[in-house]
Amino acid sequence: MSQIDLKSSRALVLPDAPKASDPQRVRIGRMVIAALWLMLIAYRLGLDHGPHFRNSSALPDAQPLVLPKIHIIPTVTTGLGWIPTGLPTPQALPSVNPFAAVRTATGPLGRPQGKAFDWGDFGHDVMKRFWDDWIGHVIQPQFDAVPLPPHPYPLPSPPPPLYPEYYALPPDQILPDLTFPPDFLFGWATAAQQYEGAVQTDGRGPSVWDWTSRFPGYIADNTTADIADLGYYLYKQDLARMAALGGNAYSFSVAWSRIFPFGMKGSPVNEKGLKYYEDLVGYSRELGIEPVMTLFHWDTPLALQVEYGGFASPRIIDDYVNYAEVMFRRFNGTIRLWYTFNEPGVFCVQPGFPQNTTLPHGVSAAQYPYVCRRHLVLAHAKVYHLFKELNIQGEISYKNDDYLGIAWRRGRKEDEEAVKRHQAYYIGFFADPIHLTGDWPELVKAELPPDLLPRFSADEVELIKGTADFFAIDAYREDLISAPPGGIDACLRNRSHPAWPECVSKKDYDSSPYGWGIGEFAEPSMDWLHNSWQHIRPLLQRLNDMYPTTGGIYLTEFGFAEPHENEKPYLHQAIQDPARTHLLLSYLGEILKGIVEDGIPIKGVFAWSSVDNWEWNTGFKARFGNQFVDYSHPTLKRTFKRSAIEMSQFWKSHRAQADESVAAMSD
Ligand code: NOJ
Repeated sequence: MSQIDLKSSRALVLPDAPKASDPQRVRIGRMVIAALWLMLIAYRLGLDHGPHFRNSSALPDAQPLVLPKIHIIPTVTTGLGWIPTGLPTPQALPSVNPFAAVRTATGPLGRPQGKAFDWGDFGHDVMKRFWDDWIGHVIQPQFDAVPLPPHPYPLPSPPPPLYPEYYALPPDQILPDLTFPPDFLFGWATAAQQYEGAVQTDGRGPSVWDWTSRFPGYIADNTTADIADLGYYLYKQDLARMAALGGNAYSFSVAWSRIFPFGMKGSPVNEKGLKYYEDLVGYSRELGIEPVMTLFHWDTPLALQVEYGGFASPRIIDDYVNYAEVMFRRFNGTIRLWYTFNEPGVFCVQPGFPQNTTLPHGVSAAQYPYVCRRHLVLAHAKVYHLFKELNIQGEISYKNDDYLGIAWRRGRKEDEEAVKRHQAYYIGFFADPIHLTGDWPELVKAELPPDLLPRFSADEVELIKGTADFFAIDAYREDLISAPPGGIDACLRNRSHPAWPECVSKKDYDSSPYGWGIGEFAEPSMDWLHNSWQHIRPLLQRLNDMYPTTGGIYLTEFGFAEPHENEKPYLHQAIQDPARTHLLLSYLGEILKGIVEDGIPIKGVFAWSSVDNWEWNTGFKARFGNQFVDYSHPTLKRTFKRSAIEMSQFWKSHRAQADESVAAMSD
């Protein structure tokens, strides 16, 4: 029997030691001793570092003795730690975001009773009380300076090839004869709520996500966006890193509640909020990166949500127009591309509990998605006209999402019909009125009664029609569509059918008897996502044919959540992201071919995202970044992943020689 004295790593007693004369037993004995040593080390590390290392399966077979401690990372750094010059010691990563537990709900677990405000009193005290009553404890940033990164920012040496060349070409050798147009925009996208952190800093008001994320279970890992990537302070570093990768454009969103902490027309404008975005825009241009602004990426000011239900109320329209006007006046001339709304289709189906406790009288949870669409489309249209009236430079549109769909069983009438239904109920819900007709798709109007889907008046139709200068799409994937089980008609007759009213079924495997999956699949918690590279070019072509514009088409987001990335125990494993690299390079290749060979007017692409960030209800569990963010590191250290470097190699070897996009703007 063997014993381990946990107090002393030396006290290892093996009374049954093998005899020297028995080589087989000696070998076994040595293996037992080695195994016991390893267990002992693992156990002691576990005591030092918490539960993660107590799970012996988290220990790699190789080099257990060099496991570094979390938080005490043996890299030599300067400044805020952005030039890692240390030895290539494997960097262990916590399997669980250490902030997750800390960031669990502390605020009210239901809607506080009574009025949130006496409207009209917009003082600091009122805002402080609002934070305290509705949100509770907020984690404050660990530093509050904007450090100036080196420029040019140093890039690491390129990663060694993953596969032989006959299987995967190096990025610069892919499609060697094709080149992007001279004014093509290539860059990354982020969104305020997912990236900025510092949610209570410099006068920002709470957003609806600051509130809902406090409800246990609302976010998969019970985290909030209090810190996120701390882009509020680290944006210069992130811009410098994007510039080093060759990016010439950066798409970011503005937190409405940083500009109007109370959200409302007539309430005070927060100069510090404006100043933050001015600095960001200014620095971006300084680096030759064209800043692209989204006015609304799902972060409704909480004050408007609790006062009148946010987008459930027509009151949101004037408040949004008022906010947009402030942004237009302040940023005219420094922003060329504007988006009013991000992915309205996703946004308007988000609320469940607890937002639905804020619905105004007369709007049921079933009506909300349609009422929201109505108010959002009207707000978009009004802001579009304001943009033109104020003579703001540049172009404006909104970001669609989703896909047009492909019939699962080609040639089968009911699947072809299901595709048309999906188009009408998804992209068409916004793109038809805004780009084409001013009104909801006919198919939808024929099926949804006005008490569910409020109709537009003739004046509103005129107001809405043609209010987009270009077509923007977050095209992550294409999907296969079939009629639902039991057929479309039966579904349409049954309001409680789970697929009602769209009445289609989505398939991510083909209809062959074998049922092959549609493409490489993403992180399982992102079960909607797969690499559909072979469909991306036809998708953009079809969209351009259906919704032609003078301004062309932008791929405003595309990206991938590498499977199980967040569970990788070592940094060098986490930054090896082959599935994301496949998607990004294959999409880029298809886009290049789409421009050069098919003549599709694709004007720019934005990868989601430059850095890992807070993925809404999934929290930090799914990573989408081209750069890894170590959330346990005091400076939220970023590390380029393979995909960032390979994407950059592809872009740099295929971009037009003289990139004139930003130069033209700054003239
Ligand atoms: C699109 C959304 O705009 C963005 O906020 C989200 O993080 C990505 N999809 C990935 O899910």
